[in-house]
Amino acid sequence: MTSTSAGIVVVTGGAGFIGSHVVERLIGLGRRVVVIDDFRTGKRANLAPWADRARFGFAGTEPALEVLTVDVAEGIFAALAPVTARFGPVERVIHLAAQVSVVASVENPLVDVHVNYRGTVQVLEYARAAGVRKVAFASSSAVYGDVDELPVREATPCQPLSPYGIDKYASEKMLHYYSAVHGVPTTALRFFNVYGPRQDPSSPYSGVISIFADRGRDGRDLTIFGDGEQTRDFVYVGDVARAVVDAALGDAGDRAVLNVGTSREITINELATTIAGLCGRGSRIVHAPARSGEIVRSVAAVDRAREVLGFTAATSLTDGLRETLRSVGAMA
Ligand code: UD1
Repeated sequence: MTSTSAGIVVVTGGAGFIGSHVVERLIGLGRRVVVIDDFRTGKRANLAPWADRARFGFAGTEPALEVLTVDVAEGIFAALAPVTARFGPVERVIHLAAQVSVVASVENPLVDVHVNYRGTVQVLEYARAAGVRKVAFASSSAVYGDVDELPVREATPCQPLSPYGIDKYASEKMLHYYSAVHGVPTTALRFFNVYGPRQDPSSPYSGVISIFADRGRDGRDLTIFGDGEQTRDFVYVGDVARAVVDAALGDAGDRAVLNVGTSREITINELATTIAGLCGRGSRIVHAPARSGEIVRSVAAVDRAREVLGFTAATSLTDGLRETLRSVGAMA
């Protein structure tokens, strides 16, 4: 399907890990895409495969990509004005730009409020002024905090335990408000543990799969924090991109809040054994003290996303791990 006659899709945080997969999917669908990214954690290399799209410009009939370097919380009106003046209005917005570390939000809550809350309000203000037809937003399972009942459902009362979770939760409320009061259609997606190619392993707080893949490739030890019996619901980034793009390009799910996970629960012990086995480079599994403040178990109920978007995560953990390990040269 080619839909270059359709309006522009803006992807904030489009140079990030999840954002670059969303851009890939949109270009594949023939859409004209504007990425907004401040490159604090986003990388130009993540968008390199589609850099040639820039040369078509927005005047052509091909799917195209424009990249604007701007802090989403400082206002996107000025940055987008020249693009929309030439190529028409923004039709849809996918808001992924964020400060992504829970630990960093505890250390510096004001930065988190600026990027993760004020940034969302800026996006919604733009959407209101520009008459955008849908805003899809990356929320997080961090909004739940510790819950009594698993799998965790969207109706579960939220008790976020970090500034990160609080700002994501407040952003969801703002989405609801803009839809109810200003008529801006919005959908919030609560991502569980997302993994896949292009996830950056370089910080101690990077996703566990990116760290294990990086270490497994070189036969280094895989360090498990605590007894390893804690569980997570790992969802492949290609599936997440599909959920986000469907939510943004479709008109279903206005004011919905939807879990994006697999409903499969795996312990970190099982994960480490699987990755060490797939890499086959002799990594040992070692244990270190548990991280404080961590949730013990996490797994998503996924019925609502299926009912509202027809979304089911299709990639098995084994297939997703193989793709991820191949992408970093940890597996043939
Ligand atoms: C993840 C998200 C966070 C989100 C939260 C929601 C990432 C990077 N973080 O945090 O944004 O808000 O889910 O619940 O995706 N572990 C090890 N060894 C390591 C690294 C991690 O054993 O080297 C363990 C951790 O202790 C944890 C599990 O693996 O029990 C997952 O850790 P991590 O990938 O950092 O994600 P979450 O803490 O679940």
